[in-house]
Amino acid sequence: MPYAIGIDVGGTNIKYGIVDAGGEILHEGLRATARVLDELKAIITELGEVAALKGLSVEGIGIGVPALMDGEVVTGCGANLPEIEGLALGSMLQRYARLPVVIDNDASLMGLAELRFGAAKGLTDVVFLTVGTGVGGALVVNGGLYSGYRGRGGELGHIRVAFPGRPCGCGASGCLEAHASVKALSRDYADAGGNAGSDGRLIFSRYLAGEDAAVVAMHHHFAYLGSGIASLINIFSPQKVIIGGGITEAGGDYIGPIRQEALRLAMKETAAQTLIEPALLGNKAGFLGAAALVFGEVF
Ligand code: BGC
Repeated sequence: MPYAIGIDVGGTNIKYGIVDAGGEILHEGLRATARVLDELKAIITELGEVAALKGLSVEGIGIGVPALMDGEVVTGCGANLPEIEGLALGSMLQRYARLPVVIDNDASLMGLAELRFGAAKGLTDVVFLTVGTGVGGALVVNGGLYSGYRGRGGELGHIRVAFPGRPCGCGASGCLEAHASVKALSRDYADAGGNAGSDGRLIFSRYLAGEDAAVVAMHHHFAYLGSGIASLINIFSPQKVIIGGGITEAGGDYIGPIRQEALRLAMKETAAQTLIEPALLGNKAGFLGAAALVFGEVF
């Protein structure tokens, strides 16, 4: 059985694992994102040792990054992870690991994993959103990934939902990411009087407990996500909108208020066939999709 290493480089954590071709996880781990290159090397060494111990033959390494790839070069990542912006990350790590390395956008890989093993299995038309430090997206149209000419699109977190709106890391303002990412949520929470630096899961649990600042911040979050999703439904009329990211795993009904707002705002006709559901693979989707890429899985 062939195995692959999958790594998902997020703005807050790096998640990783050894995965077989059927999507089964044999070993997994998580580290806080700090010095990305050093951590990637340490993870590759750790997983190499685990594979050797278990006698697994690893075919290659797949990596998801919060950026677009221009061939081999990481681009558009400056606001998320300036350390890897402009690097030919694949060849650098390939030399270190002495294994083939493939890299793609993190959200595209999460979408790929949900399509192969999760909530989008068997579907042909799907909008996938991941809500984390940033907001990422993947589109499946007529059974294939649609990410624009030479893969430069699919940036669903940068559709505009407010004018002029808050400045966004991409250089524009009013983007969905600037208003509905977990980073934005934590800022809204602090603005409403909550503790600065609280993470999304904590804010959501305080919302469920009825805390005022958390209720204000979560209502803002639900309203902007619902509004962005309504536009995406009007354009793509997908079978499903799938929402992933750590906050969706917090328990409680996170999707319900987003679904209600999106369906209130979308045209009834475009939304008639659309379900809005949480992702099934949680924070493992990114590294599972990255591993699938090693096995030649494409949309
Ligand atoms: C980036 C996307 C990425 C998303 C989630 C956004 O800021 O532009 O490329 O997929 O964050 O990490």
